[in-house]
Amino acid sequence: MDRTTPVAHPWWRDAVIYQVYPRSWADSDGDGIGDLPGITSRLEHLAALGVDALWLSPFYRSPQHDAGYDVADFRDVDPLFGTLADADRLVERAHELGLRVIVDVVPNHTSEEHRWFQEALASPPGSAARARYLFRDGRGDGSEPPNNWPSMFGGPAWSRVTEADGSAGQWYLHLFDASQPDLDWNRPEVREELESVLRFWLDRGVDGFRIDVAHGLVKAPGLPDTDLTLDPLRDPTGLQPMWDQPGVHDIYRSWRRLVDEYAVEGEDADRVLCAEAWVEPAEALARYVRPDELHQSFNFSFLLTPWRADALRTSITESLAQAGAVGAPQTWVLSNHDVVRHASRLGRADATEVVVTTGIGADDPQPDAALGLRRARAATALMLALPGSAYLYQGEELGLPDATRLPDDVRQDPTWERSGHAERGRDGCRVPVPWEAELPSLGFGPGDDPWLPQPPEFAALAVDRQSGASDSTLELYRTLLRERRDRRLGVRALSWLDLADDVVAFDSAGEGGTVRVVANLGAAPIDLPAGFGVIVASGPLDDGRLPPDMTVWLRPAG
Ligand code: NOJ
Ligand code: MG
Repeated sequence: MDRTTPVAHPWWRDAVIYQVYPRSWADSDGDGIGDLPGITSRLEHLAALGVDALWLSPFYRSPQHDAGYDVADFRDVDPLFGTLADADRLVERAHELGLRVIVDVVPNHTSEEHRWFQEALASPPGSAARARYLFRDGRGDGSEPPNNWPSMFGGPAWSRVTEADGSAGQWYLHLFDASQPDLDWNRPEVREELESVLRFWLDRGVDGFRIDVAHGLVKAPGLPDTDLTLDPLRDPTGLQPMWDQPGVHDIYRSWRRLVDEYAVEGEDADRVLCAEAWVEPAEALARYVRPDELHQSFNFSFLLTPWRADALRTSITESLAQAGAVGAPQTWVLSNHDVVRHASRLGRADATEVVVTTGIGADDPQPDAALGLRRARAATALMLALPGSAYLYQGEELGLPDATRLPDDVRQDPTWERSGHAERGRDGCRVPVPWEAELPSLGFGPGDDPWLPQPPEFAALAVDRQSGASDSTLELYRTLLRERRDRRLGVRALSWLDLADDVVAFDSAGEGGTVRVVANLGAAPIDLPAGFGVIVASGPLDDGRLPPDMTVWLRPAG
Protein backbone atom coordinates (compact mmCIF):
# COMPACT_ATOMS: atom_id res chain seq x y z
CA MET A 1 0.00 0.00 0.00
CA ASP A 2 2.90 2.30 0.63
CA ARG A 3 3.83 4.46 -2.31
CA THR A 4 7.37 5.37 -1.46
CA THR A 5 9.19 2.39 -0.01
CA PRO A 6 10.54 -0.25 -2.32
CA VAL A 7 11.40 -2.71 0.47
CA ALA A 8 8.92 -5.44 1.32
CA HIS A 9 8.56 -4.47 4.96
CA PRO A 10 9.48 -0.84 5.60
CA TRP A 11 11.14 -0.46 9.00
CA TRP A 12 8.19 1.08 10.77
CA ARG A 13 5.85 -1.84 10.10
CA ASP A 14 7.42 -3.93 12.85
CA ALA A 15 9.65 -1.45 14.68
CA VAL A 16 10.01 -1.50 18.44
CA ILE A 17 10.10 2.13 19.53
CA TYR A 18 11.32 3.14 22.99
CA GLN A 19 9.89 6.28 24.55
CA VAL A 20 12.40 8.50 26.30
CA TYR A 21 10.88 11.08 28.62
CA PRO A 22 13.73 13.60 28.58
CA ARG A 23 13.17 15.01 32.08
CA SER A 24 13.60 11.60 33.63
CA TRP A 25 16.04 9.48 31.65
CA ALA A 26 19.54 10.81 32.33
CA ASP A 27 20.79 14.12 33.74
CA SER A 28 24.24 15.22 32.56
CA ASP A 29 24.65 18.47 34.50
CA GLY A 30 23.33 17.57 37.94
CA ASP A 31 20.40 20.00 38.01
CA GLY A 32 18.08 17.10 38.78
CA ILE A 33 16.38 17.24 35.37
CA GLY A 34 17.27 14.91 32.55
CA ASP A 35 18.70 16.50 29.40
CA LEU A 36 19.81 15.79 25.84
CA PRO A 37 23.53 15.25 26.56
CA GLY A 38 22.42 12.81 29.27
CA ILE A 39 20.33 10.92 26.75
CA THR A 40 23.15 10.84 24.20
CA SER A 41 25.51 9.43 26.83
CA ARG A 42 23.16 6.53 27.54
CA LEU A 43 22.10 5.54 24.02
CA GLU A 44 24.18 2.35 24.16
CA HIS A 45 21.58 1.05 26.61
CA LEU A 46 19.01 1.15 23.82
CA ALA A 47 21.30 -0.45 21.28
CA ALA A 48 21.99 -3.27 23.76
CA LEU A 49 18.31 -3.58 24.56
CA GLY A 50 17.61 -4.21 20.89
CA VAL A 51 15.02 -1.57 19.98
CA ASP A 52 14.81 0.02 16.53
CA ALA A 53 14.04 3.60 17.41
CA LEU A 54 13.51 6.05 20.21
CA TRP A 55 10.74 8.58 20.55
CA LEU A 56 11.58 11.67 22.56
CA SER A 57 8.86 13.52 24.44
CA PRO A 58 9.16 17.32 23.99
CA PHE A 59 12.45 19.05 24.75
CA TYR A 60 11.48 22.33 23.06
CA ARG A 61 11.59 25.76 24.61
CA SER A 62 8.85 25.77 27.23
CA PRO A 63 7.95 27.15 30.64
CA GLN A 64 7.26 23.52 31.61
CA HIS A 65 3.77 23.99 32.97
CA ASP A 66 2.87 20.64 31.39
CA ALA A 67 6.35 19.10 31.40
CA GLY A 68 7.17 20.49 27.96
CA TYR A 69 3.84 19.78 26.24
CA ASP A 70 3.42 23.55 26.45
CA VAL A 71 5.76 24.68 23.69
CA ALA A 72 6.92 28.30 23.49
CA ASP A 73 9.20 27.80 20.47
CA PHE A 74 8.84 24.71 18.28
CA ARG A 75 12.22 25.31 16.68
CA ASP A 76 14.45 25.57 19.72
CA VAL A 77 15.64 23.39 22.60
CA ASP A 78 14.82 24.52 26.11
CA PRO A 79 18.00 25.47 28.01
CA LEU A 80 16.89 22.97 30.65
CA PHE A 81 17.55 20.20 28.13
CA GLY A 82 20.48 21.67 26.20
CA THR A 83 20.89 23.31 22.81
CA LEU A 84 20.07 22.64 19.18
CA ALA A 85 23.64 21.41 18.79
CA ASP A 86 22.93 18.86 21.55
CA ALA A 87 19.83 17.71 19.64
CA ASP A 88 21.91 17.30 16.48
CA ARG A 89 24.52 15.33 18.40
CA LEU A 90 21.86 13.06 19.85
CA VAL A 91 20.40 12.29 16.42
CA GLU A 92 23.85 11.72 14.99
CA ARG A 93 24.88 9.34 17.79
CA ALA A 94 21.59 7.45 17.60
CA HIS A 95 22.06 6.96 13.86
CA GLU A 96 25.62 5.74 14.42
CA LEU A 97 24.15 3.11 16.74
CA GLY A 98 21.51 2.12 14.18
CA LEU A 99 18.68 3.73 16.13
CA ARG A 100 16.09 5.97 14.45
CA VAL A 101 14.82 9.06 16.22
CA ILE A 102 11.20 10.16 16.45
CA VAL A 103 10.33 13.48 18.06
CA ASP A 104 7.10 14.83 19.45
CA VAL A 105 5.12 17.49 17.65
CA VAL A 106 2.49 19.36 19.66
CA PRO A 107 0.14 20.96 17.10
CA ASN A 108 -3.07 21.34 19.12
CA HIS A 109 -1.85 24.14 21.34
CA THR A 110 1.11 26.33 22.15
CA SER A 111 2.40 27.62 25.45
CA GLU A 112 1.00 30.90 26.66
CA GLU A 113 4.60 32.10 26.27
CA HIS A 114 4.64 31.43 22.54
CA ARG A 115 5.19 34.64 20.56
CA TRP A 116 1.82 34.17 18.84
CA PHE A 117 -0.11 34.02 22.09
CA GLN A 118 1.70 37.01 23.50
CA GLU A 119 0.77 38.92 20.33
CA ALA A 120 -2.83 37.76 20.69
CA LEU A 121 -3.00 39.03 24.26
CA ALA A 122 -1.61 42.40 23.18
CA SER A 123 -4.05 42.68 20.25
CA PRO A 124 -7.73 43.61 20.33
CA PRO A 125 -10.69 41.22 19.91
CA GLY A 126 -11.23 40.42 16.23
CA SER A 127 -7.57 40.94 15.33
CA ALA A 128 -5.57 38.60 13.11
CA ALA A 129 -3.33 37.78 16.07
CA ARG A 130 -6.30 36.52 18.09
CA ALA A 131 -7.60 34.53 15.12
CA ARG A 132 -4.71 32.07 15.39
CA TYR A 133 -6.30 30.84 18.62
CA LEU A 134 -9.89 30.26 19.74
CA PHE A 135 -10.84 33.54 21.38
CA ARG A 136 -14.58 34.07 21.93
CA ASP A 137 -16.81 36.45 23.84
CA GLY A 138 -18.30 35.02 27.02
CA ARG A 139 -21.96 34.11 27.33
CA GLY A 140 -24.55 36.29 29.05
CA ASP A 141 -22.92 39.52 30.12
CA GLY A 142 -19.62 38.04 29.03
CA SER A 143 -18.74 36.58 32.39
CA GLU A 144 -19.73 33.00 31.52
CA PRO A 145 -17.43 30.76 29.45
CA PRO A 146 -18.46 30.53 25.77
CA ASN A 147 -19.44 26.86 26.14
CA ASN A 148 -19.45 24.07 28.70
CA TRP A 149 -16.31 22.20 27.65
CA PRO A 150 -14.17 20.88 30.49
CA SER A 151 -10.37 20.95 30.46
CA MET A 152 -8.76 17.51 30.35
CA PHE A 153 -6.89 18.49 33.49
CA GLY A 154 -10.02 19.57 35.40
CA GLY A 155 -12.00 22.81 35.58
CA PRO A 156 -13.35 24.66 32.53
CA ALA A 157 -11.57 24.63 29.16
CA TRP A 158 -11.80 28.43 28.97
CA SER A 159 -9.92 31.25 30.67
CA ARG A 160 -10.73 34.93 30.51
CA VAL A 161 -8.17 37.56 29.57
CA THR A 162 -7.82 41.13 30.70
CA GLU A 163 -7.89 43.54 27.77
CA ALA A 164 -5.33 46.30 27.22
CA ASP A 165 -7.63 48.86 28.87
CA GLY A 166 -7.84 46.76 32.02
CA SER A 167 -11.38 45.52 31.42
CA ALA A 168 -12.38 41.86 31.76
CA GLY A 169 -12.21 40.61 28.21
CA GLN A 170 -12.63 37.63 25.90
CA TRP A 171 -12.12 33.98 26.70
CA TYR A 172 -9.70 31.57 25.03
CA LEU A 173 -10.04 27.83 24.69
CA HIS A 174 -7.56 25.41 26.29
CA LEU A 175 -8.45 21.73 26.25
CA PHE A 176 -5.54 21.20 28.66
CA ASP A 177 -3.91 23.63 31.11
CA ALA A 178 -4.75 27.35 31.00
CA SER A 179 -1.12 27.82 29.93
CA GLN A 180 -1.82 25.76 26.75
CA PRO A 181 -4.10 27.82 24.46
CA ASP A 182 -5.57 25.81 21.55
CA LEU A 183 -4.70 26.90 18.04
CA ASP A 184 -7.39 27.48 15.39
CA TRP A 185 -6.65 24.94 12.67
CA ASN A 186 -9.07 26.64 10.29
CA ARG A 187 -6.39 29.29 9.77
CA PRO A 188 -4.06 28.58 6.84
CA GLU A 189 -1.27 30.34 8.72
CA VAL A 190 -1.46 27.76 11.52
CA ARG A 191 -1.26 24.92 9.00
CA GLU A 192 1.70 26.48 7.24
CA GLU A 193 3.57 27.13 10.46
CA LEU A 194 3.28 23.57 11.74
CA GLU A 195 4.31 22.13 8.36
CA SER A 196 7.32 24.37 8.42
CA VAL A 197 8.12 23.03 11.91
CA LEU A 198 7.97 19.47 10.57
CA ARG A 199 10.43 20.42 7.84
CA PHE A 200 12.71 22.10 10.35
CA TRP A 201 13.17 18.83 12.27
CA LEU A 202 13.19 16.59 9.19
CA ASP A 203 15.97 18.73 7.78
CA ARG A 204 17.91 18.10 11.00
CA GLY A 205 17.63 14.38 10.34
CA VAL A 206 14.81 13.08 12.52
CA ASP A 207 13.02 9.97 11.31
CA GLY A 208 9.48 10.86 12.26
CA PHE A 209 6.98 12.40 14.61
CA ARG A 210 4.61 11.37 17.34
CA ILE A 211 1.63 13.70 17.03
CA ASP A 212 0.28 14.97 20.33
CA VAL A 213 -3.54 14.99 20.70
CA ALA A 214 -3.85 14.17 17.00
CA HIS A 215 -7.62 13.81 17.29
CA GLY A 216 -8.17 17.26 18.80
CA LEU A 217 -6.94 19.79 16.26
CA VAL A 218 -10.25 20.50 14.56
CA LYS A 219 -13.27 21.44 16.65
CA ALA A 220 -16.93 21.17 15.61
CA PRO A 221 -18.11 24.35 13.82
CA GLY A 222 -19.62 26.86 16.23
CA LEU A 223 -18.01 25.14 19.24
CA PRO A 224 -21.33 23.69 20.47
CA ASP A 225 -21.85 22.57 24.05
CA THR A 226 -20.88 19.00 24.76
CA ASP A 227 -23.19 16.40 26.24
CA LEU A 228 -21.67 16.12 29.68
CA THR A 229 -23.23 12.71 30.25
CA LEU A 230 -20.58 11.49 27.78
CA ASP A 231 -17.57 12.37 29.87
CA PRO A 232 -15.04 13.71 27.35
CA LEU A 233 -12.23 12.90 29.74
CA ARG A 234 -12.94 9.20 29.80
CA ASP A 235 -15.08 8.61 26.75
CA PRO A 236 -13.54 10.13 23.64
CA THR A 237 -15.84 8.22 21.34
CA GLY A 238 -16.05 10.66 18.48
CA LEU A 239 -19.39 12.01 19.63
CA GLN A 240 -17.66 14.93 21.26
CA PRO A 241 -17.36 18.30 19.49
CA MET A 242 -13.68 18.57 20.42
CA TRP A 243 -12.52 15.12 19.31
CA ASP A 244 -12.13 13.22 16.06
CA GLN A 245 -13.80 15.76 13.77
CA PRO A 246 -13.66 14.80 10.07
CA GLY A 247 -11.48 17.79 9.20
CA VAL A 248 -8.42 16.38 10.97
CA HIS A 249 -7.88 13.93 8.15
CA ASP A 250 -7.09 16.66 5.60
CA ILE A 251 -4.31 17.84 7.86
CA TYR A 252 -2.75 14.38 7.99
CA ARG A 253 -3.06 13.83 4.25
CA SER A 254 -1.07 16.97 3.78
CA TRP A 255 1.50 15.89 6.39
CA ARG A 256 1.87 12.52 4.71
CA ARG A 257 2.65 14.18 1.38
CA LEU A 258 5.20 16.31 3.19
CA VAL A 259 7.07 13.45 4.89
CA ASP A 260 6.93 11.35 1.73
CA GLU A 261 9.06 14.00 0.05
CA TYR A 262 11.83 12.92 2.40
CA ALA A 263 11.71 9.25 1.40
CA VAL A 264 14.76 8.15 -0.54
CA GLU A 265 14.24 5.98 -3.60
CA GLY A 266 15.60 2.50 -3.00
CA GLU A 267 16.25 2.96 0.72
CA ASP A 268 14.36 1.83 3.79
CA ALA A 269 14.29 5.43 4.96
CA ASP A 270 10.65 6.43 5.33
CA ARG A 271 10.00 9.28 7.74
CA VAL A 272 6.97 8.29 9.77
CA LEU A 273 4.01 9.79 11.57
CA CYS A 274 2.27 8.26 14.59
CA ALA A 275 -0.95 9.64 16.06
CA GLU A 276 -1.71 9.98 19.71
CA ALA A 277 -5.45 9.72 19.21
CA TRP A 278 -7.71 8.52 22.00
CA VAL A 279 -10.43 7.56 19.56
CA GLU A 280 -12.99 4.78 19.61
CA PRO A 281 -14.26 2.59 18.07
CA ALA A 282 -11.38 0.88 16.25
CA GLU A 283 -12.86 1.74 12.81
CA ALA A 284 -12.65 5.44 13.65
CA LEU A 285 -9.06 5.09 14.78
CA ALA A 286 -8.19 3.17 11.60
CA ARG A 287 -9.19 6.23 9.53
CA TYR A 288 -6.02 7.92 10.81
CA VAL A 289 -3.85 5.25 9.21
CA ARG A 290 -5.39 5.01 5.75
CA PRO A 291 -2.74 4.67 3.03
CA ASP A 292 -2.53 8.40 2.36
CA GLU A 293 -2.58 9.47 6.03
CA LEU A 294 -0.44 8.52 9.01
CA HIS A 295 1.75 5.42 9.24
CA GLN A 296 0.74 4.45 12.75
CA SER A 297 -1.60 5.29 15.58
CA PHE A 298 -1.21 4.25 19.21
CA ASN A 299 -3.51 1.38 20.09
CA PHE A 300 -4.82 2.58 23.44
CA SER A 301 -7.65 0.05 23.44
CA PHE A 302 -4.97 -2.63 23.97
CA LEU A 303 -3.45 -0.61 26.83
CA LEU A 304 -6.90 -0.25 28.39
CA THR A 305 -7.78 -3.93 28.07
CA PRO A 306 -8.27 -5.65 31.42
CA TRP A 307 -6.07 -8.61 32.30
CA ARG A 308 -8.57 -11.25 31.14
CA ALA A 309 -8.08 -13.79 28.39
CA ASP A 310 -11.36 -13.15 26.59
CA ALA A 311 -10.88 -9.38 26.68
CA LEU A 312 -7.33 -9.65 25.34
CA ARG A 313 -8.34 -11.99 22.52
CA THR A 314 -11.14 -9.64 21.48
CA SER A 315 -8.96 -6.56 21.67
CA ILE A 316 -6.17 -8.12 19.62
CA THR A 317 -8.55 -9.56 17.02
CA GLU A 318 -10.38 -6.27 16.52
CA SER A 319 -7.20 -4.24 16.47
CA LEU A 320 -5.63 -6.42 13.80
CA ALA A 321 -8.80 -6.47 11.71
CA GLN A 322 -9.27 -2.70 11.74
CA ALA A 323 -5.69 -1.81 10.94
CA GLY A 324 -5.51 -4.62 8.39
CA ALA A 325 -8.62 -3.31 6.63
CA VAL A 326 -6.72 -0.14 5.69
CA GLY A 327 -3.38 -1.87 5.10
CA ALA A 328 -1.67 -0.41 8.18
CA PRO A 329 0.43 -2.24 10.74
CA GLN A 330 -1.15 -2.37 14.17
CA THR A 331 0.75 -0.87 17.10
CA TRP A 332 0.87 -2.12 20.68
CA VAL A 333 1.62 -0.23 23.86
CA LEU A 334 1.26 -0.94 27.58
CA SER A 335 2.83 2.08 29.28
CA ASN A 336 3.67 5.71 28.61
CA HIS A 337 4.19 8.99 30.46
CA ASP A 338 0.43 9.57 30.89
CA VAL A 339 -0.71 6.31 32.46
CA VAL A 340 0.00 4.21 35.55
CA ARG A 341 2.85 1.86 34.61
CA HIS A 342 1.63 -1.60 33.69
CA ALA A 343 3.68 -3.24 36.46
CA SER A 344 1.44 -1.35 38.89
CA ARG A 345 -1.78 -1.30 36.90
CA LEU A 346 -1.81 -5.08 36.66
CA GLY A 347 -0.99 -5.53 40.35
CA ARG A 348 -4.18 -3.96 41.60
CA ALA A 349 -6.61 -6.21 43.43
CA ASP A 350 -8.95 -5.87 40.50
CA ALA A 351 -6.81 -5.71 37.38
CA THR A 352 -9.98 -5.73 35.34
CA GLU A 353 -10.56 -2.19 36.53
CA VAL A 354 -8.94 0.47 34.43
CA VAL A 355 -6.87 3.14 36.19
CA VAL A 356 -5.16 5.28 33.71
CA THR A 357 -4.34 8.92 34.13
CA THR A 358 -5.81 9.37 37.60
CA GLY A 359 -2.68 8.08 39.32
CA ILE A 360 -2.29 6.27 42.64
CA GLY A 361 -1.57 8.12 45.89
CA ALA A 362 -0.10 6.98 49.21
CA ASP A 363 -3.52 6.74 50.83
CA ASP A 364 -5.04 4.70 47.97
CA PRO A 365 -5.05 0.88 48.01
CA GLN A 366 -1.53 -0.11 46.94
CA PRO A 367 -0.85 -2.52 44.06
CA ASP A 368 0.68 -5.93 44.79
CA ALA A 369 4.20 -5.35 43.42
CA ALA A 370 5.12 -9.01 42.86
CA LEU A 371 1.85 -9.87 41.14
CA GLY A 372 2.02 -6.70 39.06
CA LEU A 373 5.55 -7.43 37.89
CA ARG A 374 4.74 -11.05 37.03
CA ARG A 375 1.74 -9.97 34.97
CA ALA A 376 3.64 -7.08 33.41
CA ARG A 377 6.34 -9.44 32.18
CA ALA A 378 3.69 -11.78 30.81
CA ALA A 379 1.82 -8.92 29.15
CA THR A 380 5.00 -7.63 27.52
CA ALA A 381 5.94 -11.09 26.28
CA LEU A 382 2.48 -11.38 24.75
CA MET A 383 2.70 -7.91 23.18
CA LEU A 384 6.13 -8.40 21.66
CA ALA A 385 4.95 -11.54 19.86
CA LEU A 386 2.13 -9.72 18.07
CA PRO A 387 2.37 -8.64 14.45
CA GLY A 388 2.96 -4.92 14.02
CA SER A 389 4.99 -2.30 15.81
CA ALA A 390 5.42 -1.98 19.60
CA TYR A 391 6.11 0.98 21.85
CA LEU A 392 7.99 0.64 25.14
CA TYR A 393 8.17 3.29 27.84
CA GLN A 394 11.45 4.01 29.58
CA GLY A 395 11.95 1.94 32.71
CA GLU A 396 9.47 -0.77 31.82
CA GLU A 397 12.45 -2.89 30.76
CA LEU A 398 13.49 -2.69 34.42
CA GLY A 399 10.01 -3.64 35.63
CA LEU A 400 9.66 -0.27 37.33
CA PRO A 401 6.43 0.21 39.23
CA ASP A 402 4.67 3.56 39.50
CA ALA A 403 5.87 5.66 42.42
CA THR A 404 2.58 5.31 44.28
CA ARG A 405 3.74 6.91 47.53
CA LEU A 406 5.06 10.21 46.21
CA PRO A 407 4.47 12.98 48.74
CA ASP A 408 1.72 15.19 47.36
CA ASP A 409 3.80 18.32 47.81
CA VAL A 410 6.31 17.21 45.16
CA ARG A 411 3.68 16.63 42.48
CA GLN A 412 4.09 18.69 39.34
CA ASP A 413 1.38 17.43 37.00
CA PRO A 414 -1.12 20.31 36.59
CA THR A 415 -3.89 17.73 36.96
CA TRP A 416 -3.34 17.62 40.74
CA GLU A 417 -4.11 21.32 41.24
CA ARG A 418 -6.69 21.73 38.46
CA SER A 419 -8.74 18.79 39.73
CA GLY A 420 -8.85 20.34 43.20
CA HIS A 421 -6.67 17.46 44.46
CA ALA A 422 -9.22 14.89 43.28
CA GLU A 423 -6.76 13.26 40.84
CA ARG A 424 -3.11 12.62 41.63
CA GLY A 425 -2.15 12.86 37.97
CA ARG A 426 0.82 11.36 36.17
CA ASP A 427 3.92 12.09 38.24
CA GLY A 428 4.01 8.48 39.47
CA CYS A 429 5.11 7.15 36.08
CA ARG A 430 7.59 9.99 35.45
CA VAL A 431 10.12 9.37 38.21
CA PRO A 432 13.79 9.36 37.06
CA VAL A 433 15.24 6.06 35.92
CA PRO A 434 17.71 4.13 38.17
CA TRP A 435 20.97 3.24 36.40
CA GLU A 436 23.57 2.43 39.07
CA ALA A 437 22.32 1.42 42.49
CA GLU A 438 25.26 2.82 44.45
CA LEU A 439 25.46 6.28 42.87
CA PRO A 440 23.68 9.50 43.89
CA SER A 441 20.16 9.60 42.39
CA LEU A 442 20.80 5.97 41.42
CA GLY A 443 23.01 7.13 38.57
CA PHE A 444 20.33 9.34 37.02
CA GLY A 445 22.77 12.23 37.28
CA PRO A 446 25.61 13.67 39.32
CA GLY A 447 23.23 15.49 41.68
CA ASP A 448 21.38 13.75 44.47
CA ASP A 449 18.14 15.63 44.15
CA PRO A 450 16.17 14.49 41.09
CA TRP A 451 13.08 16.52 40.19
CA LEU A 452 10.89 13.75 41.60
CA PRO A 453 12.22 11.54 44.40
CA GLN A 454 12.98 7.93 43.48
CA PRO A 455 11.24 5.39 45.73
CA PRO A 456 13.51 3.05 47.77
CA GLU A 457 12.51 0.00 45.71
CA PHE A 458 14.12 1.53 42.60
CA ALA A 459 17.66 0.73 43.83
CA ALA A 460 17.30 -3.02 43.41
CA LEU A 461 15.87 -2.42 39.93
CA ALA A 462 18.79 -0.32 38.66
CA VAL A 463 20.24 -1.24 35.27
CA ASP A 464 23.56 -2.34 36.81
CA ARG A 465 21.79 -4.71 39.19
CA GLN A 466 19.81 -6.36 36.42
CA SER A 467 22.36 -6.47 33.65
CA GLY A 468 23.67 -10.02 33.32
CA ALA A 469 21.26 -11.39 35.95
CA SER A 470 19.55 -14.12 33.96
CA ASP A 471 16.15 -13.91 35.65
CA SER A 472 15.98 -10.11 35.59
CA THR A 473 13.34 -8.15 33.75
CA LEU A 474 16.04 -6.35 31.77
CA GLU A 475 17.49 -9.64 30.48
CA LEU A 476 13.98 -10.87 29.69
CA TYR A 477 13.36 -7.77 27.54
CA ARG A 478 16.72 -8.21 25.79
CA THR A 479 15.90 -11.83 24.99
CA LEU A 480 12.37 -11.06 23.82
CA LEU A 481 13.60 -8.26 21.57
CA ARG A 482 16.40 -10.34 20.09
CA GLU A 483 14.12 -13.29 19.35
CA ARG A 484 11.43 -11.02 17.98
CA ARG A 485 13.88 -9.40 15.61
CA ASP A 486 15.61 -12.64 14.54
CA ARG A 487 12.29 -14.30 13.79
CA ARG A 488 10.65 -11.18 12.35
CA LEU A 489 7.63 -11.78 14.60
CA GLY A 490 6.34 -8.31 13.76
CA VAL A 491 5.62 -9.14 10.13
CA ARG A 492 4.08 -12.58 10.61
CA ALA A 493 0.48 -13.78 10.55
CA LEU A 494 -1.34 -14.74 13.74
CA SER A 495 -3.79 -17.62 14.05
CA TRP A 496 -5.63 -18.24 17.29
CA LEU A 497 -5.52 -21.52 19.18
CA ASP A 498 -8.31 -22.55 21.48
CA LEU A 499 -6.50 -24.17 24.42
CA ALA A 500 -8.64 -23.11 27.40
CA ASP A 501 -10.87 -20.21 28.44
CA ASP A 502 -8.20 -18.62 30.61
CA VAL A 503 -5.42 -19.04 28.08
CA VAL A 504 -4.45 -16.69 25.27
CA ALA A 505 -2.65 -18.77 22.65
CA PHE A 506 -1.75 -18.33 19.02
CA ASP A 507 0.61 -19.48 16.33
CA SER A 508 2.75 -16.91 14.61
CA ALA A 509 3.52 -18.25 11.15
CA GLY A 510 6.28 -17.05 8.88
CA GLU A 511 9.76 -17.61 7.59
CA GLY A 512 11.89 -19.60 10.02
CA GLY A 513 9.03 -21.73 11.33
CA THR A 514 6.04 -21.37 13.55
CA VAL A 515 6.29 -19.72 16.94
CA ARG A 516 3.60 -20.77 19.39
CA VAL A 517 2.72 -18.21 22.06
CA VAL A 518 0.84 -19.22 25.20
CA ALA A 519 -0.21 -16.87 28.02
CA ASN A 520 -1.79 -18.35 31.12
CA LEU A 521 -4.27 -15.97 32.72
CA GLY A 522 -5.89 -18.67 34.81
CA ALA A 523 -5.35 -19.56 38.46
CA ALA A 524 -3.48 -22.87 38.02
CA PRO A 525 -0.39 -24.01 36.07
CA ILE A 526 -1.08 -25.54 32.66
CA ASP A 527 0.74 -28.17 30.62
CA LEU A 528 2.74 -26.94 27.67
CA PRO A 529 1.66 -28.29 24.28
CA ALA A 530 3.52 -31.49 23.41
CA GLY A 531 6.24 -31.39 20.75
CA PHE A 532 7.48 -27.87 21.44
CA GLY A 533 10.61 -26.43 23.01
CA VAL A 534 10.85 -23.16 24.93
CA ILE A 535 12.31 -20.10 23.20
CA VAL A 536 11.70 -17.77 26.11
CA ALA A 537 9.33 -17.64 29.09
CA SER A 538 8.32 -14.55 31.07
CA GLY A 539 9.22 -16.34 34.33
CA PRO A 540 10.39 -19.70 35.66
CA LEU A 541 8.32 -22.70 34.63
CA ASP A 542 6.88 -24.92 37.34
CA ASP A 543 8.13 -28.42 36.72
CA GLY A 544 7.70 -27.97 32.98
CA ARG A 545 4.26 -26.38 33.38
CA LEU A 546 3.31 -22.76 32.71
CA PRO A 547 2.33 -21.02 35.97
CA PRO A 548 -0.45 -18.41 36.21
CA ASP A 549 0.28 -14.95 34.81
CA MET A 550 3.09 -16.12 32.57
CA THR A 551 3.69 -16.20 28.83
CA VAL A 552 5.92 -18.54 26.88
CA TRP A 553 7.18 -18.55 23.28
CA LEU A 554 7.64 -22.06 21.87
CA ARG A 555 9.05 -23.61 18.72
CA PRO A 556 8.44 -27.08 17.31
CA ALA A 557 10.94 -29.47 18.91
CA GLY A 558 13.46 -31.41 16.86
C1 NOJ B 1 -0.85 14.22 25.50
C2 NOJ B 1 0.47 14.12 26.17
O1 NOJ B 1 0.91 12.79 26.11
C3 NOJ B 1 0.28 14.61 27.58
O2 NOJ B 1 1.40 14.35 28.38
C4 NOJ B 1 -0.05 16.07 27.53
O3 NOJ B 1 -0.34 16.53 28.83
C5 NOJ B 1 -1.26 16.34 26.63
N1 NOJ B 1 -1.21 15.60 25.41
C6 NOJ B 1 -1.35 17.80 26.29
O4 NOJ B 1 -0.34 18.16 25.39
MG1 MG C 1 20.05 18.35 33.59
